Amino acid sequence: MTNEDQFQVATYKKMPIAAERGEGVWIYTNDGERYLDLYGGHAVAGTGHCHPHVVNALREQAGELLFYSNLVYSSARARAAEKLVSIAPRNLTKAFFCNSGTEANENAMRMARMSTGREKVITFSGGFHGRTADAISATFLGKYREIGKPNVPGHLEAEFGNIDSVRELADDTVAAIMLEPIQSMAGVRMAQSDFYRALRTLCDERGIVLIYDEVQTGVGRTGEWFFAGSATGGGVVPDVVTLAKALGSGVPVAACLVTDAISSHIKESDLGTTFGGGMLAMAAVTATLEAIENDRMLANVKTVEAHLRQGLREVEQVVAVHGLGFLLGIEFNDKAAPVFQALLEQKIITGTSSNPKVLRLLPPLCLEKEHVDLFVDALTRICTC
Ligand SMILES: Cc1ncc(COP(=O)(O)O)c(C=O)c1O
Repeated sequence: MTNEDQFQVATYKKMPIAAERGEGVWIYTNDGERYLDLYGGHAVAGTGHCHPHVVNALREQAGELLFYSNLVYSSARARAAEKLVSIAPRNLTKAFFCNSGTEANENAMRMARMSTGREKVITFSGGFHGRTADAISATFLGKYREIGKPNVPGHLEAEFGNIDSVRELADDTVAAIMLEPIQSMAGVRMAQSDFYRALRTLCDERGIVLIYDEVQTGVGRTGEWFFAGSATGGGVVPDVVTLAKALGSGVPVAACLVTDAISSHIKESDLGTTFGGGMLAMAAVTATLEAIENDRMLANVKTVEAHLRQGLREVEQVVAVHGLGFLLGIEFNDKAAPVFQALLEQKIITGTSSNPKVLRLLPPLCLEKEHVDLFVDALTRICTC
């Protein structure tokens, strides 16, 4: 730990844990301790740590070809693109692969500008979209826009859940409306399904591209493959969905899923990135989606979410449970930070949020009821101390 502090830029607030090995929902340290990971390495370990199907696929691909660029065809890339499109809502028919969530959002906004010939983008207070120039300028949360100065012009802020605040801004200079359909970092905030439907209608009426940033909500986290098209989201399908985090089970990979209408505006060399669509990343995508399917993880998320909500009802200090599936915000009647700390001392990793009263859970999709019971028991002990 000391060496890392000495040689790495001190930009991360770290837990006093050195993670050396992982298996399913568990993280092991070198001194033989194990931690229940309800944070999933920041929503990345969707299939759990080191899922054998993913690890085997990576081993095999590593022995064949690690990387070649998009200037050649690849069966690994073809398989990943086809698999991803096959699980997406029907009108999202094409994928563009890149490397991180912020890059996916930058490319989504770029495609919206190219396909509309307009420049402005509306996003929402409380939304987080990444740290590169355009994405951080679209992030109206805490100090992010400040750190990202000078900001990219043309970013407008609306109020999440308030369609009138969007209508006021959505004139014919607006290319896109982009949102985290469930605002994770803001404390796991979800709108009513009417709001998503009204956004879809507004975009259709005014020729605006609707982008869902599903970097956290995508790839099964809500108990559906995507928030897009889900009943909770009013069945709304946006024009672009961005994905990252859990898409490669820990191998860096991201994607934009787009409609034919959007992709028809993109010409040769309009978009690109060296590493996007590399073979190792593509093998990770295919194996991740297969593992979720083979192990019926979507159904598991729904069953175990219900069990968790039931358990949390017994904890007096919990005033609300926000979110969906395995993107949950537990709201306490007081500050969540001491609870986070006490859970860590009991070897359970959770997450905080920008809402001081909300503790975030982003566990692997293979979390089981027995793990939930360990968590609820620990929480009960902490809360009755
Ligand atoms: C909703 C959302 N969008 C975008 C990003 C940025 O992703 P990345 O860190 O991979 O650039 C994040 C990261 O936390 C996120 O939560």
